[in-house]
Amino acid sequence: MNLKGRDFLTLKDFSSEEINYLVDLGLDLKTKLKSGIPTPLLSGKSLGMIFQKSSTRTRVSFEVGMYQLGGQALFLSSHDLQIDRGEPIEDTARVLSRFLDGILIRTYSHKMVEDLAKYSDVPVINGLTDDFHPTQVIADLITIKEHKGTNKGLKFAYVGDGNNMVHSLMIGGAKVGMNVAIASPEGYLPNAEVVAYAKEQAALNGVSITITQDPFEAVADADVVYTDTWASMGQEAEKEIRAKIFAPYQINQKLLDAAKKDAIVMHCLPAYRGYEITNEVIEGAQSVVFDEAENRMHAHKAILAAIL
Ligand code: CP
Ligand code: NVA
Repeated sequence: MNLKGRDFLTLKDFSSEEINYLVDLGLDLKTKLKSGIPTPLLSGKSLGMIFQKSSTRTRVSFEVGMYQLGGQALFLSSHDLQIDRGEPIEDTARVLSRFLDGILIRTYSHKMVEDLAKYSDVPVINGLTDDFHPTQVIADLITIKEHKGTNKGLKFAYVGDGNNMVHSLMIGGAKVGMNVAIASPEGYLPNAEVVAYAKEQAALNGVSITITQDPFEAVADADVVYTDTWASMGQEAEKEIRAKIFAPYQINQKLLDAAKKDAIVMHCLPAYRGYEITNEVIEGAQSVVFDEAENRMHAHKAILAAIL
């Protein structure tokens, strides 16, 4: 499998085989790290990391992951770059490409990430936009495989906002052969074009994507129950109104009891206890959220080692 030089903008650009390859590479790098086997696959390489939104996991796991692969990472807050003073992304891309071996960016507009990739000579990684969060999904698929032995044939339920997270989960889930059920309130459903694309991919893999407004229907018989914040970065002003609209979509014990007995609970984090998930559930025996957070680093190392 040769992915060298590829951008990592959305999971649309990766085949089922390529996604499974990244999942297995992440698991392998995790095993090697735990066994003390060094993996200097990117020695002498540099990754620039542009952040226009906050981050705990993505920033730290990419930075440490790059170090563990023998390379280095530079944290580039957009406030301190010339971007926020108006330097075009096209120029930023061409300049940074002369110094770096790869560029990670977390920003609002997905178009900006596409423009960065278009003008950059080095691979660009999407570290989250308003529309997609693909690196998280590689970590999520690793986590599911660790806990369930496979991704294929499972029922994956997502309850909550039809946001960047669910867009990437739907695409990744369909491509690895999971049945994906989504419950979101009216007006907050995932983007129709992304749903149509995910449904096509699901059909190719003999699975389905179902969208409902009933959270109990979505979680019925589920192996995985997933949620995310009701107010993503940039939507802070809507937090209270969303809290009212989304109240029936909270992952609480009653909803979790409608899933399979051995269902695992996932959340990309940061979590808002008492909103999209209760403290009881996130701290409960079925929650794997901290394994999932840890796996960000193993997933990111796989992505970096594969494309840089
Ligand atoms: N899940 C995730 O991307 O976390 P951060 O926002 O902390 O990077
Ligand atoms: N949907 C969330 C994910 C955070 C990792 C957001 O965009 O803020």
